[in-house]
Amino acid sequence: MHSRSTGAAPALPPFDYTVFGGTGDLALRKLLPALYLRDKAGQVADGSRIIGVSRSPLAPSDYRAKAEEAIREHVPADERDTALVARFLERLDYVPVDATSDNGWDELAERLNNPPSRSSGAVRIFYLATSPSLFGPVSDQLRAFGLATPESRVVLEKPIGRDLASAQEINDRVGAVFTEQQIYRIDHYLGKETVQNLLALRFGNSLFEPLWNADHIDHVQITVAETVGVEERGGYYDQSGALRDMVQNHLLQLVCLVGMECPISLAQESVRDEKLKVLRSLKSIGADEVGGCTVRGQYRAGAVAGGAVPGYLDEPGIPPGSGTETFVALKLEIDNWRWAGVPFYLRSGKRLPAKMSEIVIQFRPIRHSIFPQGAGELQANRLIVRLQPDESIRLHLMTKEPGPGGMRLRPAALNLSFAQTFGGRFPDAYERLLMDVVRGNSTLFMRRDEVEAAWQWAEPIIDGWMSRHEMPKPYIAGTWGPSQSIALIERDGRTWHDDEIPSAAF
Ligand code: BG6
Repeated sequence: MHSRSTGAAPALPPFDYTVFGGTGDLALRKLLPALYLRDKAGQVADGSRIIGVSRSPLAPSDYRAKAEEAIREHVPADERDTALVARFLERLDYVPVDATSDNGWDELAERLNNPPSRSSGAVRIFYLATSPSLFGPVSDQLRAFGLATPESRVVLEKPIGRDLASAQEINDRVGAVFTEQQIYRIDHYLGKETVQNLLALRFGNSLFEPLWNADHIDHVQITVAETVGVEERGGYYDQSGALRDMVQNHLLQLVCLVGMECPISLAQESVRDEKLKVLRSLKSIGADEVGGCTVRGQYRAGAVAGGAVPGYLDEPGIPPGSGTETFVALKLEIDNWRWAGVPFYLRSGKRLPAKMSEIVIQFRPIRHSIFPQGAGELQANRLIVRLQPDESIRLHLMTKEPGPGGMRLRPAALNLSFAQTFGGRFPDAYERLLMDVVRGNSTLFMRRDEVEAAWQWAEPIIDGWMSRHEMPKPYIAGTWGPSQSIALIERDGRTWHDDEIPSAAF
């Protein structure tokens, strides 16, 4: 076993991370823990600051107490070190600011322009962990108060809008203050280790790329399943639904990484140019096709992991009779030379039986069998990239069953488990992405044209659904979605991947 270090990492320049929405769920659950862990790994230079900003009238000491609690709750115990947590909390500050008025902005400017100790300038980053409706107003204020300098960077959390027009409006308004190079649109799936591993798998091996096309691949499946419901986010989620919340961004980004051509290099624009071509090649699913190519579902009360859970309509903040989908399955096609005729089946939902994300590449069957009848069913090869949990790459192969009983074939899997092979802790996606902003590397962030191309594809589906006035199909919490999603793939003579072939020892 090789040991993998997530510990000492090269120090980066000092930074001032100003987090709008600093008391919100994302900041407390993800951003502060991620920054602490990077600090622990030695990547946060002395003099760096994290300034929480929100409307709540908190003192900096109250904010530090909140952050301490968040670290206790969201950082694994073996990563919490009293002295290092104390050092991290020292870097935290807090300023109450109202994004929609002038209140608090002078104080924020004062704080940013006069760091207590530091000789040279820090990288100035504004992280907008707020509702997208505030991206424009906050940007305007950053300009009005002279905070948006040519060197500063702004990070936008998803969702960027709720359709093409609102995304364009946000992009225009933020773009009037910051150049495209200064804007980092986060899709945290791109920061996940195994997602980046797709690039290594495809372009760091000679084995797969010659087969990576319609001649050899029958279809692709992408599943992103969650056990959680809408938690405390009912207000946001009900306005969004699974297509906007997961498919338009995370799943489409996965489609891009599976489907794109080899970029000229890993330089940010090269990778993003190739992803954009995939998005622009997606075959449109319009009102006439939504009935046949998509399934929307909504969970009813059921049981997940042995515990009873309420239905979507009984979750806090969900209006009676809501028609928002918590599950979506669909079939898409990439209309280009490499992929013509290869369906990509996507599904994502809440309150499914397991938290699990994986990509399945189903190869075509062999063209001619030399094996006698009775040798066992020949299954076509299948490559499974498990993104989470238990990150792994599995390759299903046909093998001869050991023993003297003649030629009997049996499927078996080569299994590359990342935990077993590399050991150690896998950094959370946000750890990687937050530091990429400090480095000024936007390869793993979405460019404006990508976001808009993704909306251009997603919007006709939403419009198609609205024009049909159909409620989402019900499914019991703890099951794999409505039966129609199984029919969606079985109609084509295929089935959703359901492991488990035993791993071959190797
Ligand atoms: C977010 C969605 O972008 O991704 C959430 O808004 C979802 O609804 C989350 O739960 C899933 O992320 P992960 O990393 O837990 O798979």
